[in-house]
Amino acid sequence: MKKDLEKLKQEFEELIHKVTDRDNLENLKTEFLGRKGKLKNLLQHVATLADEERKVVGKIANEVKEAIEVAYGNKEQEIVGSESSVHAQREWIDITEPGHFNEEGHLHPTSQAIAEISDIFGRIGFSAVRAPEIDWDYYVFESLNMPKDHPARDDWETFFMDIPEAKKGKLVLTPHTSNSQVRHMEEVKPPIRMININRTYRRQIDITHIPMFHQFEGLMIDKDISVTHLKGVLDYFAKAFFGPNRKTRLRPHHFRFTEPSFEVDISCEVCGGDDSGACRLCKGGWVELGGAGMVHPNVLKAGGLDPNVYSGFAFGWGVERTFMMREGIKIDDLRILYKNDLRFVKQF
Ligand code: DAH
Repeated sequence: MKKDLEKLKQEFEELIHKVTDRDNLENLKTEFLGRKGKLKNLLQHVATLADEERKVVGKIANEVKEAIEVAYGNKEQEIVGSESSVHAQREWIDITEPGHFNEEGHLHPTSQAIAEISDIFGRIGFSAVRAPEIDWDYYVFESLNMPKDHPARDDWETFFMDIPEAKKGKLVLTPHTSNSQVRHMEEVKPPIRMININRTYRRQIDITHIPMFHQFEGLMIDKDISVTHLKGVLDYFAKAFFGPNRKTRLRPHHFRFTEPSFEVDISCEVCGGDDSGACRLCKGGWVELGGAGMVHPNVLKAGGLDPNVYSGFAFGWGVERTFMMREGIKIDDLRILYKNDLRFVKQF
C-alpha cells in the first residue's frame, strides 16, 4: 500500500509536468483527488487494516495528498503567469489615445424649472410641500368653495377614479394644485408659507393642452396679510425668474376660492409694459402668467382658521407655460415636451 501511494504521487508528478492549460489541470486533479479519484480508490480498504498499520498508511496518504496539492498549486501559478504574459504580448494600451466619453444627460426642462421655482420661493421662506397627486374631491373642490355643479367637477373636465365614493367624496386626479391649501392648513398653523409643485391632470389634448402637466401653488397665511404682500411676492418672483426689469400686474378675475381674485400678468420682455399696442410681440405690454387672490373666508374656515383673525393669499399656475415664456420657446405643439425627442430636449 505504501508503495502504491508512492507510485500514485510519482504518476501525478509526471503527468502534471505535461499540463499546459487550466482545463487539463483541473481534470488531472479530479482524476487523482476527486470523490471517485485514484487516491480514494487506493484507500478503499484502509479501514480493514490493523490499527498500527492504518495509522502509518493514513499518514503517508496525507503526505501524498499534500504533495499533489502543492504540485497542483505550483502548476496553477505557472499557468496564470504564462497566460498574462501572452495577454501582455497580444494586448497593449496606447496611453496617448484619447479616451471614450460617455454622453452625459441632464434634467428635463420641466424638472429644471421645478427646481428653480422651488429655490426662488425657498429663499423667501416658502417651504416646499407635496400634496397628493390623486386626492379626495373634498380637498380638490368642496373645501375650496366650489359648488357641486361647478363645471370643473364635471366628468368632462376632470378625471375621476372609478371606485366607490368615501367620506371625502370621489378620488380625483388633481386638475390643479390648489388641493394643497386646506390640506396644509390642517397640518400647519399660521404663519404659513408653502409652495406645492405637482403633476396635474385635465381632460384636454390639443396643440396647446396636454392631459398631464405641472402646476405650482403658493400659499401665505398670517395675521394682517393683504394684497400688497401678494403683489410683493409676485414681483419678487417675476424679477428672480424672468429678470430684474420685469414686473407684474393684477387684473380682476373670478375664482371660487379667492376673494378678491386676480389674473396675474407680467410685463413684456420686449416692450417692458407699453400698453399702446405698438409691441409686435405682446400687442399691449403684458403677458398672462396665472391666477391668484386673497384666500376666501370659506376656505380658511375649511382649514380650521378664523377668517376674522387670519388672512392670506394664494396663487397658482402652470410650470410648463411659465418656463416656455421665459425661454421664449415658440413651439407649435406643447406635446413635444413629453415625447422624449432628444433633438428637442437637448436644447435646454
Ligand atoms: N387653481 C387655479 C387653476 O388651476 C389657479 C389658481 C387661481 C390658484 C387662483 C390659486 C389662486 O391659488 O389663488 O386654474
